[in-house]
Amino acid sequence: MVLTKNGKRYLVDLAGGTVRELPVQSSPTGEAGSLFAKNCATCHGPDGKGKKSIGTPDFTDPAFQAGVSASDMEAVIRKGKGVMPAWSGKLSSQQISELVHYVRSLPAAPSELPPSNVAGGSTVKRPGQVAANKPKIYEPGDDVLFSLPTGRPTDRHGVYVNFSHRFPFQPAFTSPNAGATLLGLDNFAISSLGVRYGVTDKLSVGVYRSPSAINRPIQFMAGYNLIEEGEGSPLNLMVRVSIEGQNNFSRNFTENIEGILSRSLTSRAQFYIVPTVSFNDRRVIQPINFYSSSISAEPGFTAFSLGTGLAFDIRPTVALLAEVIPTLANARELDIQRPVFSFGIQKKIWRHAFTFGLTTGPGTTVSQRAAPNSSFLNDPHAGTIENIFLGFDLTRQIR
Ligand code: HEC
Repeated sequence: MVLTKNGKRYLVDLAGGTVRELPVQSSPTGEAGSLFAKNCATCHGPDGKGKKSIGTPDFTDPAFQAGVSASDMEAVIRKGKGVMPAWSGKLSSQQISELVHYVRSLPAAPSELPPSNVAGGSTVKRPGQVAANKPKIYEPGDDVLFSLPTGRPTDRHGVYVNFSHRFPFQPAFTSPNAGATLLGLDNFAISSLGVRYGVTDKLSVGVYRSPSAINRPIQFMAGYNLIEEGEGSPLNLMVRVSIEGQNNFSRNFTENIEGILSRSLTSRAQFYIVPTVSFNDRRVIQPINFYSSSISAEPGFTAFSLGTGLAFDIRPTVALLAEVIPTLANARELDIQRPVFSFGIQKKIWRHAFTFGLTTGPGTTVSQRAAPNSSFLNDPHAGTIENIFLGFDLTRQIR
């Protein structure tokens, strides 16, 4: 039963003996709901989940809400942004601030959606009914967990910048001067930079480059999202092919094929399995110096690794990550004594992610990510849990 008193609406549950106040702005009959359905739903979707083809954000995503203040939203609604038209003059400031409240309330109240019949007689499909039976699906915050790919699809024509830092030259906790050098963060970093582009919302291409300290590889990649949980499949599957060439794509080429399988455990956690074949995989060792001729001509072996990982949201915009990448074929030939493993904590903000973590692997290209620090530093003790070191990843969708 719904009671109205002093302009507020209360849901009275007689059987349960509880009374709950209903949010005014987002009630199905509320004015903001119909304003949204009438003026905004064409671009933002009737449920506010956004449309990839237009480039509108998902208002029901807590990560989006965390990244935008109410006053920013109000300014964008008032003045417009890109293809989004300005509404000041067309809507009163009272209506605009009610719309901000409405947009804000979308993540918390997924069932309280705009009315099915909006003013003007046009009919909008109520997605609430569909959403209620939808399986719970996890949305990865980044293209990688820590080094292992998540296989998340790109937006059509989306541009993503990926940046990773690894500090393999000093263990985070066990070296004697760890405090003086900020647990290794003051030390040299292996800083890699890449760009991904969504040709469609299934096909993506990318280029990625790591620095001289790790043999200067450039990696070219193409990936296709074959099946997606969001489209009714029990899991996600992305297939990627890539080629890496060291010394700026001039020698020591390695070709990789990856299958990236993932499955949501709830909307708060996802599990990943990444079988990877690398043809002509090379031992990951430091160059003797940073001149191009010093990159040694390592022989190639066919390697197979089976990465597994888990992402788990401890808060709507904060995830814990863990991954391990055992090499199951030709590990000895590649000087891989033990699997690389990593742990991370990730902050997800709309179109951005920052991940801080600990790892035993210095490499972030497809073939190098399976090589532990013991091979890179030529030190059998490196690559163990005691010698774990720091790293971080940054991703930003710029379009
Ligand atoms: C013609 C399409 C279109 C219409 C109509 C439209 N929007 Fe948008 N809106 C967009 C696009 C595109 C963006 C993303 C802009 C960007 O970030 O470049 C956006 C962004 C937003 C944002 C996010 C602002 C931010 O700070 O990132 C809010 C809030 C918003 N719109 C609210 C509304 C409301 C409320 C209405 C109805 C009164 C509306 N929009 C109508 C296309 C539209």
